[in-house]
Amino acid sequence: MKVTYYGHSCFRVETGGKNLLFDPFISPNPLASAIDINSIPADYILVSHGHQDHIHDCIAIAKRTGATVIANFEVVTWLSKNGVEKTHPMNHGGSFVFDFGKLKCVSAVHSSSMPDGSYGGNPVGFLLETKAGNFYYAGDTALTYDMKLIGDYKKINFAFLPIGNNFTMSIDNAVIASNFIRCNTIIGMHYDTYNIIAIDHQEAINKFNYAGKELILMEIGKTKEF
Ligand code: NI
Ligand code: MN
Repeated sequence: MKVTYYGHSCFRVETGGKNLLFDPFISPNPLASAIDINSIPADYILVSHGHQDHIHDCIAIAKRTGATVIANFEVVTWLSKNGVEKTHPMNHGGSFVFDFGKLKCVSAVHSSSMPDGSYGGNPVGFLLETKAGNFYYAGDTALTYDMKLIGDYKKINFAFLPIGNNFTMSIDNAVIASNFIRCNTIIGMHYDTYNIIAIDHQEAINKFNYAGKELILMEIGKTKEF
């Protein structure tokens, strides 16, 4: 699987010939100013919740690419009203077999409202099983005991966890989360975009190392194989 980072919590995962784009928030992010959203391929766009910093470029990319947007029912309904044609609604505990693999919607402890203030349902995380391996995309979430279930379900090859604190888990809580999900390869997200979620990179990497784990802080615009 190839993972490309577009800043904040936005990643593209290429698996089985399909491009899965997670939480597209790029054009308002000064750290991602080198990224042209018109150059990003997408077959599916997965949106964890309705907040602006996870959905801002979703409509534009969905319209250009014809990608199917996967999100909770309320987010999908809002996107449909705003001109997105291909959507797939899901909700907590549900799974569905897509052509890229099996996707399960799991709990996230956070909130969700749409950029215009309308109701955005409840936030979710995503657990994906593909031929090339399994991974977990946590979305915005606090540390929660529910994560132990994720570790029970499947062997997780790598996981995207928020580490910026303030709005989500801190680095220390993300280390505990990585134990709950029994995963040693963590890709950090939701840090540095704003001053209040700025982190010390080396300290974060060290804390995971002490726990026998690897924290990967990807460079924006770069691709890494997993
Ligand atoms: Ni959020
Ligand atoms: Mn957020």
